[in-house]
Amino acid sequence: MRFAHRLDQVPPYLFAEIERRIERMRADGLDVISLGIGDPDLPTPPAVVAALQRAAGRPETHRYPSNHGLADFRGAVAEFYVGRFEVDIDPVSEVIPVLGGKEAVAHVALACLDPGDIALAPDPGYPPYTSGPVFAGADVHYLPLQKDNAFMPDLDAIPPGTAARANLLYFNYPNNPTGAVVADGFFERAVAFARKHDTVAIHDSAYTEIAFDGYRPPSFLATPGATEVGAEIFSLSKGWNMTGWRIGWIAGNAEVVERYRRLKTNLDSGMFDALQLAAVAALTEARDFPREMSEVYRRRRDLMIDALRTIGLDAQPPLATPYLWIRVPEGHDSASFTELVLEQAAVIVSPGPSFGPSGEGYVRISLTVPDERLEEAAGRIASSLRVESRA
Ligand SMILES: Cc1ncc(COP(=O)(O)O)c(C=O)c1O
Repeated sequence: MRFAHRLDQVPPYLFAEIERRIERMRADGLDVISLGIGDPDLPTPPAVVAALQRAAGRPETHRYPSNHGLADFRGAVAEFYVGRFEVDIDPVSEVIPVLGGKEAVAHVALACLDPGDIALAPDPGYPPYTSGPVFAGADVHYLPLQKDNAFMPDLDAIPPGTAARANLLYFNYPNNPTGAVVADGFFERAVAFARKHDTVAIHDSAYTEIAFDGYRPPSFLATPGATEVGAEIFSLSKGWNMTGWRIGWIAGNAEVVERYRRLKTNLDSGMFDALQLAAVAALTEARDFPREMSEVYRRRRDLMIDALRTIGLDAQPPLATPYLWIRVPEGHDSASFTELVLEQAAVIVSPGPSFGPSGEGYVRISLTVPDERLEEAAGRIASSLRVESRA
């Protein structure tokens, strides 16, 4: 058999490798704690489950949905945007459902990019910012996220020839994997860049609802001019513990939304109507649920930060996301420190370069495991590892 080359052009999916590794170690009898994957451990809010049960019992939900989405779904998203972000979106033309943020992040590239175009993607970043454009036959230009820049891409550093060929700019705040929150002025700079270079700006807002210490992450769409140049991809996965449900939306510029809808009429037949009605329950009856989840992650964040400081690491608590982005100690690179944590504490963390070359020198720790497992992991790290702190 012969297969398309495009699958060979992207690295194997990061979490598939981590999962294989955990399986092997568990088969050897080790009690491995994985802090590698950002998959919330706690259940979906009961009001959402009940809404799905009710809706699934209604035969009119059983037919092909429309890629436009139900009016109830679009209306609930529009109301959510007003209440949460003070942003007005037109529920008729400026939003459609997507089958999880990942689907949209990857597929939006097929709607925006031709072979020879360039996608600008944060590095480190969520892997589909690379695979989507590669599948579209486009080239990817990495935008390094570095501590010195508060993990914001330096848009002025993009070479003019690259900017001229760029037709898609991805960015993501609060950020996976760095945990950074958007710096003042960055969204405005993204709008200006997109205008100047006629580039579609796509903000991935998968983590706006998981935030701590009173911080409330903004929507990109609240930035003046944002809906002229781009759109935002939102997901219910993290805030509402709904990773398995595959529910999100793309909202913003009506032309981007319509192009994306046209693409999707060729790829899938929309989101199960009962799921859309469950999403309405998440956005109405369970609207404040993500705040409760944020409190859970805040507690876990503080616990793990304490453990990391105990062993001499300079660990800074993030203001958002269920992730800690930790500089590895002197004398280590990401891979060797990942191995050390695995060997000495039987804890899996993600090496930074799995998110892109600029992740070297870091590991990502995910807080999405039950409290007692996180305490156990923190305890093992604090008692078994000793490292020299970086200057
Ligand atoms: C940055 C980022 N964007 C999007 C997603 C997609 O989430 P989902 O496809 O579950 O909506 C994730 C999931 O980990 C993510 O980290």
